[in-house]
Amino acid sequence: MPEIIVLEGVVKKYGDKPAIDGLDLRVNEGDIFGFLGPNGAGKTTTVRVVATLTDFSEGKISVGGHDVMKKPKEAKKLMGVIQQQISLDKDLTVRENMVHHAMMHKIPANERKKRIDEIAEYVGLSEYMDRMIDSLSGGWKKRAAIVCSLIHEPKVLFLDEPTAGLDIKARRLLWDLIRKLNEGGTTIFLTSHYIEEVEALCNMVGIIDDGKLIAHGTPAELCNRVGSTAVEYYGADGHTEYRYFSSRNDAKDFAATIDDMNTVLIRNTSLEDCFVELTGKKVGGN
Ligand SMILES: Nc1ncnc2c1ncn2[C@@H]1O[C@H](COP(=O)(O)OP(=O)(O)OP(=O)(O)O)[C@@H](O)[C@H]1O
Ligand SMILES: [Mg+2]
Repeated sequence: MPEIIVLEGVVKKYGDKPAIDGLDLRVNEGDIFGFLGPNGAGKTTTVRVVATLTDFSEGKISVGGHDVMKKPKEAKKLMGVIQQQISLDKDLTVRENMVHHAMMHKIPANERKKRIDEIAEYVGLSEYMDRMIDSLSGGWKKRAAIVCSLIHEPKVLFLDEPTAGLDIKARRLLWDLIRKLNEGGTTIFLTSHYIEEVEALCNMVGIIDDGKLIAHGTPAELCNRVGSTAVEYYGADGHTEYRYFSSRNDAKDFAATIDDMNTVLIRNTSLEDCFVELTGKKVGGN
């Protein structure tokens, strides 16, 4: 599949401090790409520079072959963005927000109603169209934000922490919607602190730390970077220790050297192990 998002050496600074620092990143068309990183790593800033919501000082970004600096209009047409803080008008209904988005994207008036109704039906929001945004629960607010961002039929959808704070049922409903959109041909760029979300949805993953890409690959490739098998046990100081091995036999040999076998767990490595090993930080923590 061709590349649809390409970042080369991108630098974005706030004051003197780089929020992203020479970032190289490529996302293929058709992917559900998961972007992981600790708080403040630069995930939202990356989404914002690619989606042309903020500028950057160095490097090059292209979306669908359009340089976002030189051809912002063409690039913008291909992108839909659901930001970490939902930017819908709370005092308007879902339909009114959609009309507003349709006007922003210059969808002709005679096409608007048909397109709005079709998209609302597609994402299962028809019954909620005349509700005020403020009256919706968090999960439905996210759905409303998604329908608005789909009005111009983008090829790439950016979702910045789409399920943060949602309960499990609402989260799973959104996962189904994300899968459905992807199956319909939309490339998804998703940031998340939920490792199980990335494992459930994403075929490619990038890990960013301090504004730099520190790992990129399929979930299986990233797990294999730390080894196939993990040994988890209580260390001498009462903390859980983790050791990683390239074979189950090596892991078993090591486990046999631990005094208290009752505390030992041998298991396959996960994306979380890779995240913690590479960043030295817990997912979502510092
Ligand atoms: N508008 C801003 N003004 C000044 N500094 C900013 C601004 N936005 C982000 N930063 C800084 O840039 C860095 C990257 O922030 P960013 O929001 O991109 O991180 P993040 O990975 O999305 O974090 P989180 O997981 O908490 O959402 C941080 O050091 C942050 O403080
Ligand atoms: Mg963020």
